[in-house]
Amino acid sequence: MKKTISYLQKQNKLTMITAYDALFAKIFDEIVDIILVGDSLNMSFLGESDTLSATLDQMIYHTKAVCNGAKSAYIVCDMPFGSYSTPKKALKSAIRVFKETKADAVKLEGGVEKAGIVKLLTDNGIAVVGHIGLLPQFSRSEGGYKVRGKDEVSKSKLLEDAKAIEEAGAVMLVIEGVKEDVGKEITESVNIPTIGIGAGRYTTGQVLVWSDMLGFFEEFKPKFVRRYLDGANIIRSAVRKYVDDVKSGNFPSEKEIY
Ligand code: KIV
Repeated sequence: MKKTISYLQKQNKLTMITAYDALFAKIFDEIVDIILVGDSLNMSFLGESDTLSATLDQMIYHTKAVCNGAKSAYIVCDMPFGSYSTPKKALKSAIRVFKETKADAVKLEGGVEKAGIVKLLTDNGIAVVGHIGLLPQFSRSEGGYKVRGKDEVSKSKLLEDAKAIEEAGAVMLVIEGVKEDVGKEITESVNIPTIGIGAGRYTTGQVLVWSDMLGFFEEFKPKFVRRYLDGANIIRSAVRKYVDDVKSGNFPSEKEIY
């Protein structure tokens, strides 16, 4: 059965994972609540060093693939950098996502300063997931990825951000890279589910990037990632075995020929 936002809003311990294609979406669909077509695909899929050059066309292409694979998970499409820099642009971009894919919601980064855009999209029938805390789309202008909420000023800004995004109509809130007590306080202060990534143990749910948690992204491993599979090495040894079989004449065998 398709997971709706009203179903998700009643659950505890929500699970979200990223996916960028139909094959993996189909596998994850049976297990998780929410699939995020994150702009992290710019790194994990395209091999770029950050998310900034991801385009709306790319996000739509990958979201279509994920929607083809997933039938029950709630699907969220990330709005890429530059696609929601003005209200007019945001509405045009989000309408494209809704018309061209079957995504259930779009996600955008930012707090108080993006509340107007969240309201505009919501008023026009587009469900929005907020994203506050560490904002990967700001990593270049801010000179890296920095944990938020380390002092009182930063903490109260995050609490204001969460409230503003909720009041603007967001259906869910991703909180990234904040101290655990901040993740907890934000979660207690809003009435929409919070999904944490590096935000501690007390958010409503958790999200991980699939290629991080399954051990395919080998460049670096942030502290908050738990690796559930040694994916890259498993694939390497399978492909090595295939190559050995071809070279030794063991593949194809009699059973594998016409
Ligand atoms: O792009 C992405 O995968 C994300 C997650 C890190 C939440 O936004």
